[in-house]
Amino acid sequence: MDSFEWLNGYKLGFGLHHVDFTNPNRPRTPKYSAHFYYQVIRDNGFPTPDDEKMLYGHFRKDFIWSTATASYQIEGGWRADGKGLSIWDKFAHTPLRVFNDDDGDIACDSYNKVEEDVAILKQLKVTHYRFSISWSRVLPDGTTKYINEPGLNYYHRLVDALLAANIQPHLANLINLDWIMLDLIFSRLGHKVKFWITINEPYNIANVGHGYGAAAPGISFRPGTLPYIVGHHLLKAHAEAWHLYNEKYRAKQKGIISITINSDWSEPRNPYKQEDIDAARRVVQFYIGWFAHPIFNGDYSDMMKTIIRERSLAAGLPKSRLPEFSPEEIKRIKGTYDYFGFNHYTTVLAFPVDYGNLQHYDADRGAGTIADRTWLDSGSSWLKVSPFGFRRILNFIKEEYGNPPIIITENGISERGPIDLNDIHRSYYYEKYINQVLKAYLLDDVDIRGYTAWSLMDNLEWATGFSERFGLFYVNRSDPKLPRVPKTSVAQYSTIINCNGFPDPASGSHECLNPEPEGTSAPITDDTVRFLGMKLSTSDAETGLNTTFALLIVAVFAAVCSSFCFFKARKQHRKNSM
Ligand code: NOJ
Repeated sequence: MDSFEWLNGYKLGFGLHHVDFTNPNRPRTPKYSAHFYYQVIRDNGFPTPDDEKMLYGHFRKDFIWSTATASYQIEGGWRADGKGLSIWDKFAHTPLRVFNDDDGDIACDSYNKVEEDVAILKQLKVTHYRFSISWSRVLPDGTTKYINEPGLNYYHRLVDALLAANIQPHLANLINLDWIMLDLIFSRLGHKVKFWITINEPYNIANVGHGYGAAAPGISFRPGTLPYIVGHHLLKAHAEAWHLYNEKYRAKQKGIISITINSDWSEPRNPYKQEDIDAARRVVQFYIGWFAHPIFNGDYSDMMKTIIRERSLAAGLPKSRLPEFSPEEIKRIKGTYDYFGFNHYTTVLAFPVDYGNLQHYDADRGAGTIADRTWLDSGSSWLKVSPFGFRRILNFIKEEYGNPPIIITENGISERGPIDLNDIHRSYYYEKYINQVLKAYLLDDVDIRGYTAWSLMDNLEWATGFSERFGLFYVNRSDPKLPRVPKTSVAQYSTIINCNGFPDPASGSHECLNPEPEGTSAPITDDTVRFLGMKLSTSDAETGLNTTFALLIVAVFAAVCSSFCFFKARKQHRKNSM
């Protein structure tokens, strides 16, 4: 327990239990570490928890296996064929907004590489491909007065090439305040595209773009108000898009349309502390719930409405900073989904934080978040490998939003630093995360219809530029041709797709485990070197070099030592014979 720590007095607590030294009874309260240590003792070590054991089995027959990109992150061609400017063109061209002042002017040049992109999709064996439309490419001045046919034609060419390869297009980012523009896209592409996403990640648009200001349009001056107003409009715009499709196009085009909501899962930092449990609930309700509650259950959650109203009034404002929906609007928005589009990457540990009178999203949520130090890292500071949270949040969606069909529209991991095509961290991540999806599907009856890996290739990771790489394919930026090179995880993801899950190795040999994917023989790239006659990745070669060097030192040491012993023995021998 905490005790008198010599020169530090009672300030430093080394204890498994906290002792309240202000209380004459000196009450002891167990810290998280006490519970942890108790478990170690009880288990006599660290057995693999059930949570982490592999489950063998398959997804449903018509499971959607997909991978994703987004227009600004890959297309380039920022001025090609009459394209207008988007908020991201402007944001990225503002000094210091994006790491290294990277921009999407060229990006992966996908605007000029339809064939190459479709070829790598075929190599992956995906059934679907999720991509988005750049509005400024189609409608350069933001109105339907002028339709930029060459821009629109790019999407036609891409969609046609996908269909020819038997890959279904899943088209995102229909959001625009003008419903006529939506009408245009449905009428032009709807006979070929059967999967639609109205808005991708409304949380990021509302809060990161208009609260933190870390994404376009980079506004942060009214963080307590603007994100909620933007979110309110996004919800209404989404509902109109859904209704338009539902009423005018669904019967003829027979597609499905929904929104994609992103969210972390949140656990209490100390699972035995009620305040932490409450903080974790608030984090989830303010994240996934902000947009899911109005669409799946109707209106904002009571938790969001109460907290934001009370904090607004306490700060002397005349009304809540969270706008109100009229009863008609609540009805119009509720039920505007054909599936739950869900993006997920990581889990956080929550604890309460009192921000006093500050008026912004984090203060309303009243929680701080950290990661467990044992979770593996990625190339992104916010992303820690925590697969168990995926199954939990999928179950949360099932329970909280009435068991909707779920399509996972993004999930993946980044790396940064030196290029290494042997991305075992990504293979590990996909195996563990997809296995949690399988558990949710097979063991918990969550209605999961599809899975999408983010991302097809390394691309512009928004404000962190090209420094964080999420791709299954590496894009060699030092080669002007920007070739796409498969990382090791390509073979692994395509094997999972080929097997439609994870076949039990104990039940015999499985042909699906050894697919013969098109053209996946590892190419010799700039990052492959010859070492002692073998073809190795730079990192493997480095390991080889270090090992050889170490062996050399051992050999030299052994040689020196043996000569020393030899001379010593000879000396001794001479001494004895004298
Ligand atoms: C979500 C976004 O939709 C995508 O654009 C982004 O690159 C990934 N998450 C990774 O942060």
